[in-house]
Amino acid sequence: MPKTIPPEVINDIQDRCDIVELISSYIPLKKTGRNFQSTCPFHSEKTPSFIVSPEKQIYHCFGCGEGGNALSFLMKYEHLNFREAVETLAKRVGVAIQFEEKETDQEKTYTNEIYRINELACDFYQNNFINKPNAEVNKYLKSRNLKEDTLKKFKIGLAPNQWDNLLNYLRAKSINIKLIEKAGLIIAKENGGFYDRFRNRLVIPIFDVKNRIIAFGARALDDSTPKYINSPETPIYIKGRNLFGLNLAKDAIREKDYCIITEGYFDVITPMQEGLSNIVCSSGTALTIEQIRLLKRYTKNVVVIYDADTAGQLATLRSLYLFLDEDMNVKIVNLPKGFDPDLFVRKFGIEKFKNLVDSALDIFEYKLKVVTHIYDVKKISEKTKIALEMLSMIKRMKNEVLKSEYLKLLAERISINEDSLLKELNKIKPSQTTDNTAWDSEKNISQTYPKNERMLIKLILEDTKITDGVKGSISPGDLQDKRLQKILALVFKLYDSYSELKPNQIINYLDDENCIKLISELTSEEILNYETVNRDNILQGCIKEIKNGNIKMRCQILQTKIQEAESQKDNEGINKLKEELNTLNKKRGRLNEKNRN
Ligand code: CTP
Ligand code: MN
Repeated sequence: MPKTIPPEVINDIQDRCDIVELISSYIPLKKTGRNFQSTCPFHSEKTPSFIVSPEKQIYHCFGCGEGGNALSFLMKYEHLNFREAVETLAKRVGVAIQFEEKETDQEKTYTNEIYRINELACDFYQNNFINKPNAEVNKYLKSRNLKEDTLKKFKIGLAPNQWDNLLNYLRAKSINIKLIEKAGLIIAKENGGFYDRFRNRLVIPIFDVKNRIIAFGARALDDSTPKYINSPETPIYIKGRNLFGLNLAKDAIREKDYCIITEGYFDVITPMQEGLSNIVCSSGTALTIEQIRLLKRYTKNVVVIYDADTAGQLATLRSLYLFLDEDMNVKIVNLPKGFDPDLFVRKFGIEKFKNLVDSALDIFEYKLKVVTHIYDVKKISEKTKIALEMLSMIKRMKNEVLKSEYLKLLAERISINEDSLLKELNKIKPSQTTDNTAWDSEKNISQTYPKNERMLIKLILEDTKITDGVKGSISPGDLQDKRLQKILALVFKLYDSYSELKPNQIINYLDDENCIKLISELTSEEILNYETVNRDNILQGCIKEIKNGNIKMRCQILQTKIQEAESQKDNEGINKLKEELNTLNKKRGRLNEKNRN
C-alpha cells in the first residue's frame, strides 16, 4: 500500500518511541551486552535468536530472518498495515497525526474478520453436503473412496452450482461485502456487483498450524478445467508460507520424527484416511524456504515423494538442496509411473505405501543413481560431470562430519581418489550449487550473496554520510544481489535530500519485506573485531573486489565469445572482442594499482 504519510512525520513518531520498550510490552526481553534478547515471537525456538538493539532501534531474528524497525514489528505482530502501524505508534507516543487522505474503515484489512468469514463460509459449504444430498456429488465421493469421517475431519464441503449462494448467505449475516471480497470468496463483476469464486466444486479448507482457516482449494467434480481453483493471496494467506495438512499432521510428525512431503491435497487426505498421519503437501508448487523452516519446528527428517516422471529430475533435485541449507535430512522415493500417493494408496493399500516410504533413498544415494543413469561412469569426461554434480550437492551440506563421510563414499563409488575430490570440492563456489531459475527469491533470503556486497551496504547503512564518496565509484548495477541493489539505489536517491539517515528510517521508504529483513540483518550482524578496523580501508577493498569480480566475469564471457568467433572465422568480430578484452584488462590493472597506493 502507498505510504502517503510524510516521512518527516513518521521519523518524528519513531524517534519518540523506544523499540525496546515497545517490544517488551509484548514479549519479555532480557539484556545481554549491548542488546536485548528473547526467543523469537515469529517462529518457534528453544534458544533465543531474536535480538533488539536499543542503539540501532532495530530488531532481528537470526533464526527465521524476520526483522525491521518499530513499525515493522507492529505490522508483523499485530497484523497491521503500514498506516495502521503508524497510527498505533503515534497513539502510543501521544502524537496527533494528520493523514494526507483518510482511508475509509472499509478499506482496512481486518484480519480477524477474515478468519471469521472463512469460518462461516466453511460451515456453509459443509452444510450443503449434509442438508442437500446430490447424486452427482455422491458418485464422485464414492469414486474417490472418500468416507464421511474424512469429510468431517478435513471440513470438506460443497460449493453449489449457482452464482451467488455464498454471497447471499454471508450478506444475510450482515457481513461487509468488501471484507468478503478481501477474503477472496467473491469476485467483482465488471459492471458492478459480485459473484461467488467457488461454484459446483468440492471445497477443501486450508488451515494454518493454529487451526485457523486461511484459504480454500476447490476441486472440479469432473474433468473440467481448471482442476483446482484456489483462494487468491489475502491479508491472511500468503502462498508458500503454509503446508496443507500440517495442522492435522504435526503430532504424528513429532512422534515419528519425520514427515512425508507430497504435492496434492488428496495425497494428504487419502493416506490420513487410512491411518498414516505424518504427511503434508506443498499444494502443487515448489517448496519454499519458509515452508521448510515451518516444518523444521517439528522434525529434521523428511521423505519427499516424487513422480516417476524423470523430466528435469536434476533440476527438481537441486530444489531439495534447500533442506540441506537448513541442515535437514532428505530422503526421496519414486512412485510407479502414473501414480500419486492418493491413487497408489487406493489401489495397493496403505501398507504397501508405507513400505515404499521405508525404502526411500537419502539424497546422496538418490542423486548418484540419477546422475549415473544420465552419465556413463566408465567414460572419463562423463565421470568428471558425475563428480561435479555430486560435489555441488555435498558442498551445500551443513554438517562437516556428514560432508566428509559422503566424500569418502563418493570416492569409493566412482573410484576417484578422495584427495582430488576434496580439492575439487574446495574449488566450487556457493553460487554453483544453486539452480538459478526457480530459487532466486529463496536464495536471497538465505545468506548466499557475495560478502563484499553485503559489507559495502552494511558500512553505508551504518554511516550514510560516506555515500558521497561511494557514489562516484560504484553504482547499484555493479551489485549482483537484487535486494542490495535496491537498497543502494534508495540510499543514493535519499541522499540528495537527507545527508544523514539511520537504517531504522531507511526501512520506512521500503515496501519490499525482504529488503527490510536484509537491512535488519546487516545492521544486527556482529563482526569480529569490527570496532577496531579501519572502515575506510574495508570500504575501498569491497568496492575494488566488486568491480574486479564484475570485470573478471565480463572477461570470461568475452573469452567464450572469442572462441566462438574463432571457430566461425569471424575476423572482424574477433578483433572487436579482443579490443574490448584489452581495455578491460588495462582497467583491471589500474584498479589494482590504485588500491595499492
Ligand atoms: N493444483 C492447483 N491448481 C491446479 C492444479 C493443481 O492448485 N490447477 C495444486 C493442488 O494443490 C493439487 C496439486 O497442485 O492438489 C497437485 O496437482 P495435480 O497432481 O495435478 O492434482 P492432484 O492432487 O492429483 O488432483 P486430483 O487427485 O484431485 O486429481
Ligand atoms: Mn491425484
